[in-house]
Amino acid sequence: MSKHIPVLKDQVIDSLRIKPDGNYADGTLGFAGHTEAILARLNASARLVATDVDPKAFRYCQDLFFNDTRVRLFNTNFTNIDVVAALSGIQKFDGILADLGVSSAQFDDPEYGFTYRTDTVLDLRLDHSQGEPFSIKLSVMSEKEIADIIFKYGEERQSFRIAREILKIDSRPYTTGSIKEAVAAIIPGFKVNDTLSRVFQAFRIFTNNELENLKIFLRKSLSLLAPGGRLAVITFHSLEDRIVKEFFRYENLDCVCPQGTPVCICGKERTLKIITKKPLTASKDEISINNRSRSAKLRVAERI
Ligand SMILES: C[S@@+](CC[C@H](N)C(=O)[O-])C[C@H]1O[C@@H](n2cnc3c(N)ncnc32)[C@H](O)[C@@H]1O
Repeated sequence: MSKHIPVLKDQVIDSLRIKPDGNYADGTLGFAGHTEAILARLNASARLVATDVDPKAFRYCQDLFFNDTRVRLFNTNFTNIDVVAALSGIQKFDGILADLGVSSAQFDDPEYGFTYRTDTVLDLRLDHSQGEPFSIKLSVMSEKEIADIIFKYGEERQSFRIAREILKIDSRPYTTGSIKEAVAAIIPGFKVNDTLSRVFQAFRIFTNNELENLKIFLRKSLSLLAPGGRLAVITFHSLEDRIVKEFFRYENLDCVCPQGTPVCICGKERTLKIITKKPLTASKDEISINNRSRSAKLRVAERI
């Protein structure tokens, strides 16, 4: 299994301003790099709950924290953060973290089909017990449906040409290798890797409903934060980052009435103070050790 190196770890820990006896949540446990760093700042009366939708990551962390009575782990989607808080008897958190996307271990594991480096079934689910592989969904999609996914979640302008080429693939199930060949047939060599990254990103986001889940997680996290509690989110592409940025910006506003309205009629109250006016990014040193960190952006806000 590839080693997953937690990104922006020091910045996450500093910006969460951890209270030693506080309650914390890590929505994306992974291989617990951030969770362990948070726990190192917590005393015996603190509590930490963490979720991961992937059974493999969950099992790994269950063994890791077997003897730690402060920790409760849940093999579930972070959209259930309210449920896991209730099950753990926690009403409010002092800090909540999400480090989005997939870990290096998942990326390199052919079982998920996240990369075209090995030819494997195009599954793309983080949790294989839910739903069906993307290869099955793809086999009943129209050109427009495929193109829409590639455009919406990959921001790829050649979406229709790529969709048309994918529909020419005869072999089933669709594999990472067959998608790679279809894209390579129409995209010039020097661009093909970037295009493939966008196509695979699009299919993965669609399969795991990643953007909608993020919106649910942000909304629920807001209502679970204690005053002064902090929400930290690490994103890896512009679609995720835009959602977090817009959410923080909206919740930072006191009034959303149209400009010129003489008296506020919207009743909107400010619920978050933005801590990172610009997102925090990895240093050159971090990028040289961990290439994955090059696209990471950390945004932090504080509950009012
Ligand atoms: C980038 S990794 C997190 C790595 C972790 N911070 C660490 O230091 O090891 C993202 C993890 O979040 C999980 N994940 C992604 N979306 C999720 C969701 N909606 N709910 C719960 N877990 C999710 C993935 O399975 C993966 O293990």
